[in-house]
Amino acid sequence: MDYIAPTNLLDNKTILITGAGDGIGKALAIKCADLGAKVILLGRTLSKLAAVADHITQLNKQTAMIIELDLNDATEERYITFAQQLTEQQVTLDGLVHNASQLGKLGPFIDIDYDTWIEVMQTNVNAGFLITKHLLPLLQAGTNASTIFTTSSVGHKGRAFWGTYSVSKFATEGMMQLLADEYADTTMRFNAVNPGGTRTSMRASAYPDEDVNRLKTPEEILETYLYLLGDDSLEVTGQRFNAQ
Ligand SMILES: NC(=O)c1ccc[n+]([C@@H]2O[C@H](COP(=O)([O-])OP(=O)(O)OC[C@H]3O[C@@H](n4cnc5c(N)ncnc54)[C@H](OP(=O)(O)O)[C@@H]3O)[C@@H](O)[C@H]2O)c1
Repeated sequence: MDYIAPTNLLDNKTILITGAGDGIGKALAIKCADLGAKVILLGRTLSKLAAVADHITQLNKQTAMIIELDLNDATEERYITFAQQLTEQQVTLDGLVHNASQLGKLGPFIDIDYDTWIEVMQTNVNAGFLITKHLLPLLQAGTNASTIFTTSSVGHKGRAFWGTYSVSKFATEGMMQLLADEYADTTMRFNAVNPGGTRTSMRASAYPDEDVNRLKTPEEILETYLYLLGDDSLEVTGQRFNAQ
């Protein structure tokens, strides 16, 4: 997408990003802060989140909030608690980016082990459900809140050997579509972004032999996310975008 974000695009917006400690989520969190947003960094590795928060402080003196949470083993109670904590701190949300995902193991369907299936579904689908459900009141209290789900090219066309990850991304797109339909009469919007092949550790796990220099970096694929988070996309909901 050829979108040039104005430097004040996200002024006065509060945006929560999952998987904000590395890869695309990290790059997006830093860019959102650079464009004026207060960012809430959610992830499972505190040291990575703290490094992103430090980067943001050096960039614009903002203090990014950190939520340390492993989506794979969090109970519903944990989501309820952090939603309550945000509410008590009078946080409202103008943006929510479901970015954290696990790849699981690629291979023949017949070899998918149930533990991997559960783990990938827990992080990629169940966590997206629980976060959205419990943060919906904060999104409703926000201004023109934009929720972005992260999909993949295997999230709408099944591909051999992509097993659980592929099924989880189909579910992700379904969740986005039904939320967009359910809230069509509101100012909230729900869309999905497929980043396309991007130079991150997840991509390296999926394609260990490829030449990474041919891939775009996370910083180079952010325009679509920014377009959807800012007010230039107020009428856009229920759609899937390719970031490349
Ligand atoms: N890169 C690509 O080519 C590509 C292509 C299509 C779609 N995508 C999608 O883009 C999104 C970002 O991927 P990426 O390539 O940036 O991946 P990445 O570099 O592996 O980063 C994923 C982030 O999610 C976090 N995370 C993973 N499991 C988690 C859990 N259980 N609880 C909390 N946080 C968790 C990771 O935390 P740690 O750092 O602590 O591990 C990491 O910060 C994903 O949804 C992925 O499916 C990526």
